[in-house]
Amino acid sequence: MTPPSPTISRVRTSVFEPATAIDRTFPEFPAAQPIDENNYFKKHKPPPYLSEISKDVANFIASHNKLNRKVVLVTSGGTTVPLENNTVRFIDNFSAGTRGATSAEYFLENGYAVIFLHREFSLLPYSRHYSHTTNCFLDYMNEDENGQVVINAEYQNEMRVVLRKYQNARDKGLLLVVPFTTVHQYLFTLKLISQELSVIGPNGLFYLAAAVSDFFLPHSRMPEHKIQSQNDNDGKLRVSLEAVPKFLSRLVDSWAPLAMIISFKLETDSNILLSKARGALERYNHQLVIGNLLQTRKKEVVFVTPEEGEHWIRLTDEQHASGTEIESLIIPEIMSLHEKWCEKTSTL
Ligand code: PMT
Repeated sequence: MTPPSPTISRVRTSVFEPATAIDRTFPEFPAAQPIDENNYFKKHKPPPYLSEISKDVANFIASHNKLNRKVVLVTSGGTTVPLENNTVRFIDNFSAGTRGATSAEYFLENGYAVIFLHREFSLLPYSRHYSHTTNCFLDYMNEDENGQVVINAEYQNEMRVVLRKYQNARDKGLLLVVPFTTVHQYLFTLKLISQELSVIGPNGLFYLAAAVSDFFLPHSRMPEHKIQSQNDNDGKLRVSLEAVPKFLSRLVDSWAPLAMIISFKLETDSNILLSKARGALERYNHQLVIGNLLQTRKKEVVFVTPEEGEHWIRLTDEQHASGTEIESLIIPEIMSLHEKWCEKTSTL
């Protein structure tokens, strides 16, 4: 139940206009080779806070491993590519973080411990229900006759359910939230967490829902200060970006070789979704690609696996209208695939 909100216009400015699009067919990047990985990590300095994260991640994984609990890394939100060191301008990848935050909740409810690697300030598990981007939390509250701030009666039940789930995850230490902003921070942190997670072998699961940039501006070419418009002779800004190595292959074959790995494929053209998803599976050799279209991602996704081919998961119109979330169907299917993966891998 969503309260009427006078403060938030229901107009969405982020909706794209297909009529203005130009069709550009861009070839897929090849998978990263060890040399690409070495070059990237050698040429770029790790984020200064990485050792702090490393300790938290190692402790988190060790504590859940003791209990033989499965641990999933959920990545969520879009990475940025800064154009300046003191960043005023950056290029962004589309993702509100809904898929990641929602999925994390269903993993938690089903007994997983979750490392939530997310774009800072994108949606978070639980608080997403009352976020500024969808429902302003202030619209759920009022002042009673004694001047106490209270939740309106009609939202009490719904909010109590979310609150209890949140407190359970927090109090049992089931959720570790790790932020990134740039693609550079994302890659260093992903590598770090992958290597930590490799310790628990097949009990580790990767659910890579983040929208990761394919291009970046190397530090060697990044100006320290805000780019000045008068610097360029003809008043145009020319930016030459490098390709980000496709690290998924490195994740599969060397960072966490026993873990189950799921990547997402986002397309906007329904004619190419399946072939792109199959192509990703062949190129990276992992266990599952979940394909989704930007326009329908909240209503349907397609699972593509090496063994069973394609399999669509769809909400019915009634389910969609009543607010059922597609992640409530996706996560149980993944859990059963992960269970099979653990059985298969333990007999190798
Ligand atoms: O957050 P929402 O608004 O709910 O939107 C969710 C979503 C649509 C963003 C999500 O469901 C989704 O599809 N995420 C993946 C989008 C994406 O980045 O696709 P891609 O084709 O660029 O990358 C495919 C895979 O390759 C990704 O899993 C990524 O982790 C991996 N990759 C990408 C770039 C790179 N340099 N190396 C990689 O390994």
